[in-house]
Amino acid sequence: MTRQAVPITLRGLRKTYGPVRALDDVDLDVANGEFLTLLGPSGSGKTTLLMVLAGFIRPDQGVLRFGEDDVTRLAPHKRDIGMVFQNYALFPHMDVAANIAYPLALRGVAPAERERRVEAALQTVQLAGYGARRVDQLSGGQRQRVALARAIVFEPRIVLMDEPLSALDKQLREHMQIELRQLHEQLGTTTIYVTHDQREALTLSDRVAVVNGGRIMQLDTPRALYEKPANRFVAEFIGESSLLKAERDGDGWRCAGQPLRHAGTVPAGTRALLMLRPERVQVLGQQGGEHLNVLPARVSAVVYQGDSFLLQARLADGSAVSARGIAHAAVLNRLPAVGEPVRLGFGVDDTVLLADDGG
Ligand SMILES: Nc1ncnc2c1ncn2[C@@H]1O[C@H](COP(=O)(O)OP(=O)(O)O)[C@@H](O)[C@H]1O
Ligand SMILES: [Mg+2]
Repeated sequence: MTRQAVPITLRGLRKTYGPVRALDDVDLDVANGEFLTLLGPSGSGKTTLLMVLAGFIRPDQGVLRFGEDDVTRLAPHKRDIGMVFQNYALFPHMDVAANIAYPLALRGVAPAERERRVEAALQTVQLAGYGARRVDQLSGGQRQRVALARAIVFEPRIVLMDEPLSALDKQLREHMQIELRQLHEQLGTTTIYVTHDQREALTLSDRVAVVNGGRIMQLDTPRALYEKPANRFVAEFIGESSLLKAERDGDGWRCAGQPLRHAGTVPAGTRALLMLRPERVQVLGQQGGEHLNVLPARVSAVVYQGDSFLLQARLADGSAVSARGIAHAAVLNRLPAVGEPVRLGFGVDDTVLLADDGG
């Protein structure tokens, strides 16, 4: 199939519902062929943004462009967009092939060509031979694949997906994430995907826009978001983290009285939050870790979780730090007990300082 993907440009998009700013002056550039995810808590404005892109919601102000074209006021059916929603929205009285053929019929594609394209789309979503099945004979995962086939069968320039996997159980969801990623690599259609599941966002996306209160808090690659969050909201929303008070000390920084070596940018002012990811904190004995930053602490809990262990410790000032590690027998057998003193080590590159906004 030949497809013409397009870049998407959003400038100053605003949508209010009474006092609620569902979209608060959103600027966003989506690259040609990119898989970009909108990730945020419930009510953050993700669906509103997707509906503005699809043309079902008219923004109060701002501009939307597909390639060079200003489409802000273009009707939905003229936007050439494939869409997939959480609850399939398939026609239950039609068979699989008729469901997938529907957008082709709408566009006046001749029956023979329709049949050829439906077969190709079924193959793409790994449902070859399912055309004659009734939709209600399919599993949840198969239905979602039919919905996907229907969204791509007319070779749209853009695909929008709003929480398409959230009705599926965990195992199937993770399987479908890999399939969606492979499908995107195969088709290269510019894709905007909505989820509130941070792991799903990290798994699928070229870049992720973290959304909160109708604003984009950070737009970055999965790795940059996780390792270098720009602010406290992103640090807390994605992954687990311990946040500790840090103070400026001359040219450097200290946490709990200990000097910090760090590689990244630092916030203005004299106070900051040190963010530590649990899997990057090492539990050290009374020696070692010369190349690391080290904080003395006392163990408050040790939890065995099968594949990993979680150790919680408190610094002298009472603040809590978590450390997580892979559960090798050798490691488990020498974990310290509750109440014992430990030293917590973390690399210079794993030392992230965030603005302490008091939030
Ligand atoms: N039709 C509507 N009328 C009033 N408020 C709405 C409407 N649609 C969305 N909102 C509000 O706008 C905000 C963003 O909603 P939404 O885009 O659905 O968030 P999300 O998809 O991230 O859960 C929420 O506060 C929601 O209550
Ligand atoms: Mg939503």
